Amino acid sequence: MENFNETFSDYDAQPLVEVVKVTKIYPPDVVALRNVSFNARKGELIFLTGPSGAGKSTLLKLLCRQQTPTKGMIDIDGNDLNKLSDNAIQKLRQRIGVAYQDFKLLPRLSVFENIAMPMEVQFKSLKEIRHRVTELMEKLDIKEKQNKPAGKLSRGEQQRVAIARATANSPMLLLADEPTGNLDAGATELVMDLFRELNEKGSTIIIATHDTSIYQGTKHRTFELQQGELCSKPGSPS
Ligand SMILES: Nc1ncnc2c1ncn2[C@@H]1O[C@H](COP(=O)(O)OP(=O)(O)OP(=O)(O)O)[C@@H](O)[C@H]1O
Ligand SMILES: [Mg+2]
Repeated sequence: MENFNETFSDYDAQPLVEVVKVTKIYPPDVVALRNVSFNARKGELIFLTGPSGAGKSTLLKLLCRQQTPTKGMIDIDGNDLNKLSDNAIQKLRQRIGVAYQDFKLLPRLSVFENIAMPMEVQFKSLKEIRHRVTELMEKLDIKEKQNKPAGKLSRGEQQRVAIARATANSPMLLLADEPTGNLDAGATELVMDLFRELNEKGSTIIIATHDTSIYQGTKHRTFELQQGELCSKPGSPS
């Protein structure tokens, strides 16, 4: 029985994200990340902090394969990103939700259509799409804007649409880049409640942020990037 338990807890500790000695140099010579290594366990929520230009967005872009590392290895759910075919990358990408720092919404499509997009890619039924999109718009207080083109919204509203879109499929891995950068305290609370709920249901979440209000005093691990190098914040649980 003891053996079984050991095996079980080993399995549980299997990282979902493994980053090993990753360096990213943007041509010709901008070292955005230097020898970065860390793991995220399945179901973990991690904060990634650090000053502007430290490499936070670059690290998230590498994790969703929007960029490739110059050196080093990234493994997501047992898949070495350096070795995956384009097809396999596309399949894996469908299990990763990304809320981009610059939103990347389709400005002429409505709020509803933007949020529904990842669900349509997965051929979810119209009924399921309507239910999930409405639920997310209610949680993030943007339902009254549902028929408006995304490009006509305020920055704070656009940010919440981007977050709703990233979370629509309850992804295995959620990468959120400065998700509260344009939000007031009330909207920040709504976003963090949504993230907590997803995390409790099993999503692994990595949040890049400057916003100390969302990570101060947290029980979650917090990493700090300084000029492309990663260090664990003092007091952060290991
Ligand atoms: N496409 C690019 N080409 C060249 N250099 C880049 C590119 N993207 C980022 N950089 C540089 O890489 C470094 C890290 O940038 P990154 O955007 O990852 O920082 P960040 O921590 O997300 O900053 P912020 O808090 O301002 O969003 C910076 O020096 C930046 O100028
Ligand atoms: Mg950034």
